[in-house]
Amino acid sequence: MAKQTIGLIGAGNVGAALGRRFTHAGHEVLFGVRDPGHIAALVDELQGAAAAAPTEVAHRADVVFLTVPGSVAVDVAAGLGDLRDKILVDCTNPLRWEAGPVWTPPEEGSITAAIAARCPGVRAVKAFNTFGAEFHANPDLAGGRVEVLMASDDDDAKQSVASLANEAGFAAIDAGPLRNAAVLENQAILWIHLALAAGHGRDFVFQMTRRTSA
Ligand SMILES: NC(=O)c1ccc[n+]([C@@H]2O[C@H](COP(=O)([O-])OP(=O)(O)OC[C@H]3O[C@@H](n4cnc5c(N)ncnc54)[C@H](OP(=O)(O)O)[C@@H]3O)[C@@H](O)[C@H]2O)c1
Repeated sequence: MAKQTIGLIGAGNVGAALGRRFTHAGHEVLFGVRDPGHIAALVDELQGAAAAAPTEVAHRADVVFLTVPGSVAVDVAAGLGDLRDKILVDCTNPLRWEAGPVWTPPEEGSITAAIAARCPGVRAVKAFNTFGAEFHANPDLAGGRVEVLMASDDDDAKQSVASLANEAGFAAIDAGPLRNAAVLENQAILWIHLALAAGHGRDFVFQMTRRTSA
């Protein structure tokens, strides 16, 4: 795939890890953050990376990844300016904590669907939300790669995101239409429950596995 400009809105656990992977895959990475000075060390670490205001990053990027808290995700996306024809990958999850994670979607059914409703013409893809950030940082597994499930009504956008994901060391899987973004958010809730509430720890992922014989 030709070199792309990847915009990461947010530079926390997920944003920084994806920034490292996309840089190592040969892409230009721009971090869209409220205070670029806060991530000077991260920008220095990554060849060719830069930090700027989220609106500028969204404007310059070929593909935008949203990696902010779920509680602000829709408003942050809506504040990025004109996203018409822009691929936006929503990595966020809507939840509150009640002795474990509780899915708290907006009335549109998922954060991704709400972004699609608020941002005219955006090519919204849900992806990279179903496993812990340790796996964004390193998607290598014994005998395989972490699977990135993608939900969107835009098949071409999913194909572009799949190419980026596969190049960066993941294994992309088409998980169906935009309505399945709600399913992926719930898969994340289950992962968080098992990891943090049920005590299984953060070092597992859900993968499609097949029997070796009938
Ligand atoms: N952590 C995981 O294992 C994991 C895994 C899969 C998906 N996710 C999802 O990914 C998203 C990010 O998680 P994270 O762990 O990376 O979070 P994080 O470490 O807290 O980072 C969040 C980032 O969003 C920025 N941010 C917060 N509020 C903002 C606002 N109002 N406007 C613009 N930027 C804002 C923060 O910038 P400041 O420094 O300026 O506050 C920071 O760069 C969440 O929706 C989470 O559910 C997380």
